[in-house]
Amino acid sequence: TRPFRVGIAGLGTVGASVVRILSRQNDILARRLGRPVAVTAVSARDRAKDRGIDLSTLAWFDDPVELARSGEVDCVVELVGGSDGAALRTVETALSHGKHVVTANKALLAKHGLALARAAEEKGVALAFEASVAGGIPVIKTLREALPGNRVSRLYGILNGTCNYILSRMELEGLTFADCLKDAQRLGYAEADPTFDVEGFDTAHKLAILTSLAFGTEIDADAIYVEGISSITPLDLAMANELGFRIKLLGVAERTSTGIEQRVHPTMVPKSSAIAQVMGVTNAVTIDADAVKELTLIGPGAGGDATASAVVADIADVALGKSEPPFGVPARTLEKAPRAPMQRH
Ligand code: NAP
Ligand code: HSE
Repeated sequence: TRPFRVGIAGLGTVGASVVRILSRQNDILARRLGRPVAVTAVSARDRAKDRGIDLSTLAWFDDPVELARSGEVDCVVELVGGSDGAALRTVETALSHGKHVVTANKALLAKHGLALARAAEEKGVALAFEASVAGGIPVIKTLREALPGNRVSRLYGILNGTCNYILSRMELEGLTFADCLKDAQRLGYAEADPTFDVEGFDTAHKLAILTSLAFGTEIDADAIYVEGISSITPLDLAMANELGFRIKLLGVAERTSTGIEQRVHPTMVPKSSAIAQVMGVTNAVTIDADAVKELTLIGPGAGGDATASAVVADIADVALGKSEPPFGVPARTLEKAPRAPMQRH
């Protein structure tokens, strides 16, 4: 049988994990999909870098856009990063050449998700992005596929592993912000530019994607109030602790009587609450909806293997021919929701 041919653009923390997992899970994937998944092409900047994976039999492209154009792949997995530049050109090129796309790139989707979804739908190919929000937690699939019997009223959660890791270690181990951030970078949790993590923008990108899926609205990242954790001090954490609270960076999206409210900011949560127990790189998302009432998903929010787990799930769905519209409903039917002013909580 002809294999499902995958090209991987970006061989960093996530890309290298995807190659390793596809190799490790080769047999089980072939049985599940009725054909093997074969990585046929890869792209990164530095061909000489040791990535701990054997690339000798794969087509190498210095330019991921060339990989996206190549006749050697059915599906392009974009793991380069960045909201524009090489990542955007790679995804646009793949879609315009009728290739499926899997990406973990929330910055790209928060800015161009609507246009890319339209392009994918026009070409009848998949645009899959489970790994873009909350690492290994299947929250995109849950919102898109598991809740058609529900009207979502609110969702909120811890959507950035780096920030939760920093806040947890500062509080429990008394470490400095700078040391915790360094560790998060070493462990592959942080973005290439960690400002996106600590200033709340990464949480905002993810919230924008979840809001669109939850409420059937166009992505509106510019509407989000964003405040990060870079000014949180050990004293703030200690004071919160004394009052019976923990500080968490939350993303919150809510349907109000005037529209959709979206916000990202450090929040005092009671130490006895479920969300206060979520520590380290773990993420959590709670969805309030009329039928299911309250649904909470908890799991690893960042890191190579956890994120690659979601990427591989998308590759399997695409290989099986699953073809939900990327945002659950056809992109042209997504509503332009009014922005609700932020309420004080
Ligand atoms: P990373 O470790 O920085 O890897 C980026 C890869 O892209 C590297 O292999 C790099 O090549 C390659 N690259 C960058 N610019 C390129 C260009 N112009 N042409 C060709 N290759 C280029 O990043 P990552 O942590 O794996 O993240 C990848 C994506 O996944 C990002 O969108 C990120 O936001 C998202 N994500 C990451 C995580 C996580 O926990 N790390 C979780 C969820 C989502 P070299 O290796 O040669 O430098
Ligand atoms: N930098 C991101 C985080 C990666 O720490 O959550 C996962 O999206």
